[in-house]
Amino acid sequence: MKNSEIKTMGGYFQLQLSKGKEYYPDLIKLNTSRNALEYLLEIKKYSKVYLPYFTCEVMLEPMLKMGIPYQFYHINEQLEPILDFEVAEGECLLYNNYLGLKEKAVKTLTESLKNVVIDNAQAFFSAPLPGVDTIYSCRKFFGVPDGAYLQLNTEGRLNIDMDTSTYRFSHLIKSIDYGIERGYADFVENEKGLADNEIRTMSLLTHAILDGIDYEYCKTRRMENFSFLHEKLSAVNELDFDFPEQAAAMMYPLLVSKTGVKEKLIEEKIFVPTFWPNVFRWTTVDTLEYKLAKEVIYLPIDHRYSLTDIEEMLGILKKLL
Ligand SMILES: Cc1ncc(COP(=O)(O)O)c(C=O)c1O
Repeated sequence: MKNSEIKTMGGYFQLQLSKGKEYYPDLIKLNTSRNALEYLLEIKKYSKVYLPYFTCEVMLEPMLKMGIPYQFYHINEQLEPILDFEVAEGECLLYNNYLGLKEKAVKTLTESLKNVVIDNAQAFFSAPLPGVDTIYSCRKFFGVPDGAYLQLNTEGRLNIDMDTSTYRFSHLIKSIDYGIERGYADFVENEKGLADNEIRTMSLLTHAILDGIDYEYCKTRRMENFSFLHEKLSAVNELDFDFPEQAAAMMYPLLVSKTGVKEKLIEEKIFVPTFWPNVFRWTTVDTLEYKLAKEVIYLPIDHRYSLTDIEEMLGILKKLL
């Protein structure tokens, strides 16, 4: 029996968290989304995985660990797969719902192809489609150190231990006392520490935090911030891509021909990420994926920001364009 399962009364108080309801109570709760993919591969026994060049390197972990062959595929300007290959019986295709903006493509793809696995790591608020294997990663959207969800369209389940997250918290708490920048080194360490971990179920601690989040608020803020930015930036945005009318997206993607904007935004302390540094190693300069990784600016639109904050960011950005 784990200490957390022994019933006690009295004593000191635990960290006090609100008790609400997690967003996906019916999905399988795991420690990371790469491990959700491993879980799925253990159950489904796929003999090969097709995955996009434009994704995060850690998604290779399960295939490397399990010795499963994999093959990269290219995406087009709509960020949709270029299907110039056949997914054979017993093989699967992993597709990213990029930034949560590709819900329509997810629907069409899963209706026309068997064995599609949807990576919703960038699309927490995109509900899984019935019968479609779908993966989520919680810390890309909320202040948790780990945690993932998996919808699996079969009955089979693995018998696995529960993870613990106690030692993955320093960046989350340091940033409250000292600010985001002073917690950054710890964040990087935590990210490294998530590599090559066993598949475990989600820790009680991460789960308790996810239980206390006001998801409606977070979703609404993202939607409003996204729409606002798109309204203001669509005329200058050179991304050749159909934006959905509305989306509780992860970030707002902006492409401009002027160089150096990304670096200048970072100097102004608007921290825009690179999705994904590994793409520079996997592809060549002439590919779309390379361009997306190098040139697209991903602007924050999350629940931490009001429209006033977004307007301020826009003011700084406009001066750089
Ligand atoms: C699109 C995408 N999928 C999956 C992952 C992996 O998620 P996790 O760190 O929860 O395994 C990442 C990055 O970490 C990602 O960017």
